[in-house]
Amino acid sequence: MPVTIKNAEQQDKMRIAGRLAADVLDMISDYVKPGITTDELNDICHRYITEVQDAIPAPLNYRGGGPVPFPKSICTSLNHVICHGIPSDRKLRNGDALNIDITVIKDGWHGDTSRMFLVGKPKLQAERLSKICYEAMMRGINQIAPGKHLGDIGHAIQTFVEANRCSVVREYCGHGIGQGFHEDPQVVHFGKPGTGLMLEPGMIFTVEPMVNAGKRHPKLLPDGWTVVTKDHSLSTQWEHTVLVTETGFEILTLGASDRDQANAA
Ligand code: MF3
Ligand code: CO
Ligand code: CO
Repeated sequence: MPVTIKNAEQQDKMRIAGRLAADVLDMISDYVKPGITTDELNDICHRYITEVQDAIPAPLNYRGGGPVPFPKSICTSLNHVICHGIPSDRKLRNGDALNIDITVIKDGWHGDTSRMFLVGKPKLQAERLSKICYEAMMRGINQIAPGKHLGDIGHAIQTFVEANRCSVVREYCGHGIGQGFHEDPQVVHFGKPGTGLMLEPGMIFTVEPMVNAGKRHPKLLPDGWTVVTKDHSLSTQWEHTVLVTETGFEILTLGASDRDQANAA
């Protein structure tokens, strides 16, 4: 499928969907405490998306990945889980590092974003890795402008992560997004400057690096979804949905506090 350019009207729909996805993360953050299960987090998000936002949780019954549809409304990826963790009766514990990944569909358009949550008193390694992953994502996003290439994004992410002696997962990547959950192009989080697709205004895609404390290699669990680090090392991920503008980029999934900061600047 070709990479689509979203027109002004379509960009507005994506702004709405992106905002709703970010609102879910803002809403759930107060609940991320020791003792709550990831199933309970799933149920709270599901109700908020369907009842308050009048939107659809895109992961529920999603078939994009493989033979089995995804069984829940959000992804909860804990500690050595790289991505696509399935909510369960596992209770959160002090020191856990949890990624919550939210994708909503509003009016047919998708917004996709994830954040790390450090439960209780954070462990030093988790704090460091999450920070490196967040900064890597932002360095990648800061490359985005018309005339730049996807390889510029990947290169900025990879060099920063590897300079910090961590590793970038290569088997899973960011993606175009719009009326489809996963559209072209694939946005890999490694690469060479000046290579790959050239960016044009109106493109919308995610940047969502997965950064491991150990080696980069993933392993898919028999449930068909959960992806873990082969060496069981800690893994973190952050994700934004981003629009290429005439002059650079616009992040469509900023949370309330980041929006306030952007407005104050
Ligand atoms: N939200 C994930 C992404 O960033 C995809 C999750 S697919 C699911 O692309 F089926 F696992 F939910
Ligand atoms: Co995504
Ligand atoms: Co996502």
